[in-house]
Amino acid sequence: MSLLEMSGITKHFPGVLALDNAHLSVEAGECHALVGENGAGKSTLMKILSGAYRADAGLIKLDGETKHIDSPIAARRLGITMIHQELNLLPELTVAENIFLGHEVVRGPLGWLDKRAMEKRSQELLESLGQKLSGRALIKKISLAQQQMVEIAKALSVKSKIIIMDEPSSILTDRELHELFDLISRLKQQNVAIIYISHRLEEIFKICERVTVMRDGRTIQTEGTGKLNQDQIIRLMVGREIEQFSPSQHSHPGEEILRLEAIEKAGKLHNIHLGLRKGEIVGLTGLVGAGRTELARVIFGADQPDSGRILLEGKPVSLRSPRQAIDLGIGLLTEDRKTQGLILNMMLRENTTLARLSRLVKRGFINVSAERSVTKKFIRDLLIKTPSTEQKVRNLSGGTQQKVVLAKWLFTESKILIFDEPTRGIDVGAKAEIYQLMWKLVSQGIAILMISSELPEILKMCERILVMHDGEITGELKREEADQEKIMALAMGLNHLARTS
Ligand SMILES: Nc1ncnc2c1ncn2[C@@H]1O[C@H](COP(=O)(O)OP(=O)(O)OP(=O)(O)O)[C@@H](O)[C@H]1O
Ligand SMILES: [Mg+2]
Repeated sequence: MSLLEMSGITKHFPGVLALDNAHLSVEAGECHALVGENGAGKSTLMKILSGAYRADAGLIKLDGETKHIDSPIAARRLGITMIHQELNLLPELTVAENIFLGHEVVRGPLGWLDKRAMEKRSQELLESLGQKLSGRALIKKISLAQQQMVEIAKALSVKSKIIIMDEPSSILTDRELHELFDLISRLKQQNVAIIYISHRLEEIFKICERVTVMRDGRTIQTEGTGKLNQDQIIRLMVGREIEQFSPSQHSHPGEEILRLEAIEKAGKLHNIHLGLRKGEIVGLTGLVGAGRTELARVIFGADQPDSGRILLEGKPVSLRSPRQAIDLGIGLLTEDRKTQGLILNMMLRENTTLARLSRLVKRGFINVSAERSVTKKFIRDLLIKTPSTEQKVRNLSGGTQQKVVLAKWLFTESKILIFDEPTRGIDVGAKAEIYQLMWKLVSQGIAILMISSELPEILKMCERILVMHDGEITGELKREEADQEKIMALAMGLNHLARTS
């Protein structure tokens, strides 16, 4: 008898059959991977298990007994906890308040909140995850990766039999990932079952015993991870062959379009010099916290440097706001789509054209039918999974939302595009499409600055790679001379190693 048995699970949303007779069986003490393309139904199936959604049909059994899970509280009582793909923390509250939300520690006959105890316990939980973070820190002040660790600590603060992790790794750095994997092994030893959703297939071979593949709301197959290789899993996921994209040709960069000179920003950026030419993709990498995102924000006018110059096509500009940057032809795809990229309550069509609505306005009116047809084109090009152009972005799957951010910036027809982690949370099939598309953009003369922590992706896409450490650019490598070791050495500030090796 399995710990968990889900069978015949079906779920409709307006215009979408999200789950079609799906099933899943999980044993105690195993890490069970759940994989599938964007929109395959993974999060929906897990939201049903964790009580966030009700299934239209189907059965859930725990230790052989049928259970009705009709709320997150009911799920928690049964020992089921979910770490959500879209972080669910309250930005205005502290780390400790978030961790203990809904099960606060109280003391005394009047039930005073025991703040000190909660802060202490929070810090201990985070320390066990290798995080030095005060329980009193405000969520809005900490990094995305740290927020993810807080989500995980929150799941650990209650005793669980099943912990669902919906793409926990997509915003973690290597070090945090390591801590997460250690934690998963410890949980397995305590006989906890982990359901692990990830688009990074190499991860699941490291930590999962079995994998279930979903496609179009259906369960395709469950298999031991030792019995399948990565290509076989991909084939099951997409149901077709996908071309592995490799840029065979070299790009032909034109004249310089963007130049940064001696940019300084106290505590964040130091002595940044950078040149970007038309028709090239330059990679920008480094550990989280190295200043990559800060640098992107300066180029996008979201932050102003203390000193230094920015030149566009040879002319000095002062970028005081993103609006100004957009008007000058600079676009930034942010890593945090929830707060900066999209308006979740608006339609797909409206989000697509948001950053450059002026392209569609004639005599004061928005040309809605033109808007619809450009959106349809992006739906085709980027394989956006949606019932129509009118769907609210909130209702799209996590990875699909990321594709909408991309569509939005492509629509602006910017001359310079900064991509901050563009393929995070994107499935294998669509990744290849996005690489292809970026390559097409540079062949049209657009300049791309690509920020990514995934070194294989940087090495594949960029002919020039800049590495940052502690607010400085510590090195520049050509693709021919670059490898993961050299990049890591520069990223850790060990410049001499990169040079001599
Ligand atoms: N609340 C909702 N309202 C309408 N449609 C929804 C809702 N939630 C999910 N869907 C749709 O159900 C389908 C499955 O989505 P789900 O989020 O489960 O995908 P996923 O496998 O988690 O994908 P990803 O890898 O992108 O996170 C998608 O077509 C999605 O648009
Ligand atoms: Mg999902």
